[in-house]
Amino acid sequence: MTVSPRGALPPEALAPAAQARVFEALPKAQSAFFAPGRVNLMGDHIDYLGGVVLPMSLTEGTVLAAEAKARTARDGLEVLALDIPEHAVLTRDDLQRPLGDWRRRLVAVLAALGLTPEAVPFRIAISGTLAGGGLSSSASFALVLARWLPTEGLGEAFESWPLARILQAVERDHAGVACGLMDPLAIDLGTVDGPLRLDCEQGTATPVPLGFSQAVFALVHCGVGRRLEDGAYNRVRGTLAAALATEGFPAACLPPPGATVQAAPLRHVQSEQARVWAGCEALAAGDAVAFGALMDSSHRSLAEDYGVSLPELDQLTALARGLPGVHGARLTGAGFGGWAQLLVEQAAWPEIQQTLAAEGFREAFLARPGGAPRALAVGGPHG
Ligand code: GLA
Repeated sequence: MTVSPRGALPPEALAPAAQARVFEALPKAQSAFFAPGRVNLMGDHIDYLGGVVLPMSLTEGTVLAAEAKARTARDGLEVLALDIPEHAVLTRDDLQRPLGDWRRRLVAVLAALGLTPEAVPFRIAISGTLAGGGLSSSASFALVLARWLPTEGLGEAFESWPLARILQAVERDHAGVACGLMDPLAIDLGTVDGPLRLDCEQGTATPVPLGFSQAVFALVHCGVGRRLEDGAYNRVRGTLAAALATEGFPAACLPPPGATVQAAPLRHVQSEQARVWAGCEALAAGDAVAFGALMDSSHRSLAEDYGVSLPELDQLTALARGLPGVHGARLTGAGFGGWAQLLVEQAAWPEIQQTLAAEGFREAFLARPGGAPRALAVGGPHG
């Protein structure tokens, strides 16, 4: 697969490992669907303050394959959750399972679209390639369902912004994570050309050209996976809310750009927003050196002022920064483990990847814009 950000994207380029797994599990699938993950290139922990963020959808994501089955009174949606792995026939009682349980989240997505599992007479297989934290596997999982179901005449086909609010509520009520709007929007509005400048207050999404001539974004896993359900995400949101209140700022808004702020979390959100605007300019101008410097300072701010890094993420990003051909490195997404984002000279990537692997950071790939959720052909080489 070429790493050029532009041009046609063959369906085989979309989460190929997940496609292989679902079509192996359901070789007679009659329909299939893909939802990308996302990397947030700049602007972390500001979406829930109505900030402007810079995410890009990915060619890695979640794949669903489906077979219709005969409807019987007792039948519900049958799911092969291949990555866990688990096989379950879902019922509305799955909503009573503990917070974060995949069956509860799946049934909650159905409910948000006006469906019960008993009203979805299908056997589906689901698999994804976003494990490890930071690439929005949760929103990708929700969107592959929310966009596939209406193609079968099931459930409401919401517009992107209302759907994002619905999925944000599902995440809060059924996974216990008080997340923002960025992830479902970044995925649902994704383009194959590059990132989006997403204004989480105004509800606008503007494509930003990927203007670099030789530099590309790479993703490297720090070796420590994470789950936001353990409360870390909600805790930092709580700390931020307290700091906003102490310094007399309204809750759930960014302090105004020129305002004097004292507390470290407020310094982070204010400076991170400024870095998004500077990052958009650097991207459009094709200035990889400037974008890389912004990534380095974003990581410092997330680590020191916001407290969402881990030693492994600090170690990985510091190591990467010292390598020839690396313009910058930062954690991406919520933090607390997971993937780091590098900006690298494309020609230097094989050597960078090798050096990082020799230091124990073996999972890595180049980030390529993946577009929006869409149907995949069935009955081709896989079917
Ligand atoms: C998670 C949340 C998002 C956002 C990021 C951090 O991915 O789901 O809403 O807050 O963390 O930028």
